[in-house]
Amino acid sequence: MKQDVRILLLGEPKVGKTSLIMSLVGEEFPEEVPSRAEEITIPADVTPEKVPTHIVDFSETEQSDLFLKDEIIKANVICVVYDVTNEDTIEKIKTKWIPLVNGDAEKGNKIPIILVGNKSDLRCGSSMETILPIMNQFSEIETCVECSAKNLKNISELFYYAQKAVLHPTAPLYDPEDKQLKPLCVRALSRIFYISDQDNDRILSDAELNCFQKSCFGNPLAPQALEDVKTVVWKNTSDGVQDNGLTLNGFLFLNTLFIQRGRHETTWTILRKFGYDDCLELMDDYLYPELRVPVGCTTEISALGRHFLQQLFDKYDEDKDGALSPAELRNLFCVCPYMPWGADVSAAVATTDDGYVSNRGYLCQWMLQAHLDVHRCLEHLGYLGFPILTEQEALTTAVTVTRERNEDLEKRQTQRSVFLCKVIGPRGTGKTAFLQRFLGRSLVSEESCSSALSPYVINTVQVNKQEKFLILNEVDVDTEFLKASDASCDVACLMYDASDPHSFDYCASIYKQHYMESNIPCVLVASKVDLQEVRQFHGMAPAEFCYKHRLPAPLPFSSLALDCGSRSLYSRLAWAAMHPHLNGSDMSSTSFWLRVALGSAVVAVLGFAIYRAVARLK
Ligand code: GTP
Ligand code: MG
Repeated sequence: MKQDVRILLLGEPKVGKTSLIMSLVGEEFPEEVPSRAEEITIPADVTPEKVPTHIVDFSETEQSDLFLKDEIIKANVICVVYDVTNEDTIEKIKTKWIPLVNGDAEKGNKIPIILVGNKSDLRCGSSMETILPIMNQFSEIETCVECSAKNLKNISELFYYAQKAVLHPTAPLYDPEDKQLKPLCVRALSRIFYISDQDNDRILSDAELNCFQKSCFGNPLAPQALEDVKTVVWKNTSDGVQDNGLTLNGFLFLNTLFIQRGRHETTWTILRKFGYDDCLELMDDYLYPELRVPVGCTTEISALGRHFLQQLFDKYDEDKDGALSPAELRNLFCVCPYMPWGADVSAAVATTDDGYVSNRGYLCQWMLQAHLDVHRCLEHLGYLGFPILTEQEALTTAVTVTRERNEDLEKRQTQRSVFLCKVIGPRGTGKTAFLQRFLGRSLVSEESCSSALSPYVINTVQVNKQEKFLILNEVDVDTEFLKASDASCDVACLMYDASDPHSFDYCASIYKQHYMESNIPCVLVASKVDLQEVRQFHGMAPAEFCYKHRLPAPLPFSSLALDCGSRSLYSRLAWAAMHPHLNGSDMSSTSFWLRVALGSAVVAVLGFAIYRAVARLK
């Protein structure tokens, strides 16, 4: 909304422009006036809309055309004054003044105009008959008002209308020629309708209407008023009321009615509450609130955000199967200007057998987005109406900025619930399979290793009976992995192929280069343990290497394993991420790891011996 309003009065000489201004300011009719009044500013607190208002006079005898052009450009609204007793001054409205003001302006860019018929004390009837055709001809005319500077009639009203024309403009909302809402306005109001329809039945019930009314105007509707609204809509539309509630068409009709009756401010209040600016775009302040994320901190969806997102899930999971089908997902995001989630989402999170995003997968994806790109995440939450439905001042309460990692290290505990694990290893080690296994999937064929899969996957894991979110990020071996920022994460998973003698070398060098001196926990994983294990060509055997560097011994993994053993592997990654202070600091914990790890390696190898035996029998 505009921060101040500039009103310019134009019109033929002697119609009473200066007198109108002096009457407003002095609250009495001045018998003698100068040809031009000085510019005056009315302070915000005495104007009806509480914005400072500048009133500017014009006098043909005193001012040049150049000066006039300049004033027209600066004005937010123009009052074209005519004398109700002088036909010639009315004629000049269309032949001179409106062309002068808006002659060059494009449709939609015109300055709003108010027609002011002064000296109504000198005439019995009204000038409306002559004025109406002019109003119909020029859509930029917001309204017309007859007044008298002499009797002080309608003077404050005139300035109120002028103020309103600027603060609650018609042009973005309504096309007076087509007599209907403009497309952008329909789009904005439809979004508002879908957000307010909390049970997703495409009807605003009494309860939903009241909620809507309360969030926009601060108080609920009286029961009678509610009935009256519905009756008006019902009488004037064929499909505006259904099952005793308002349909989208009914809601749009109601707003058309507000505007046609000069109550634009009602529709504008609604639009602004839902974050729209004067051009009917969502405001930057609304979509992109300031959020400071210091180095070493991460961002997660807050408890409030999770609650909101869960309600949204329940609203759009129409068949209540605990997953969102592509159609349900489209409906959920119908209030966004673009579809925020593409095919990459179902590749990154847990899905049902049909490939639908499960409830857990849905929440995981939000967590992933909040972690990787919190601003984009907030933007999406803004489209979905988070601050309105949760009655929050700003979007930022949907996320939490976690404590700095160094502080977590110092205090030896963390409140975070999302951890990032980089999965690093030479080409062909089975990193993609490792990521897919985390989502409970197996790689179907070789080609699925390629671009259809996401470099990020996220799922929940249990650590100490708590639910945590673990993000696995497969690091592309081809890209140079040299920058410290590439290496940074909460836990590094260094993976080598136990069946390839050259594999471990890569992990060892990455470890020495990036992690040995850092406080990032590292976990080594030996992949393909279902195959014949070979001796690594590295100077030291992997177990020995780990022992020397105080790392837990390599954990065995096979993407072919169907047992739940691999799940505990992911939990261990999360556990290591949660306890970075234990990283390599304590020999006893290392030997603990060693024991646990070697134990499970034996079990795993035995398991595969049996697996192979069974496979051979088939
Ligand atoms: P310019 O500065 O020459 O462009 O004229 P203006 O439009 O500022 O008109 P101004 O206020 O000087 O008024 C012109 C004459 O009309 C003066 O004699 C006023 O007293 C008179 N007048 C202004 N308003 C009214 C009104 O409401 N009723 C009556 N009866 N006379 C008015
Ligand atoms: Mg004057």
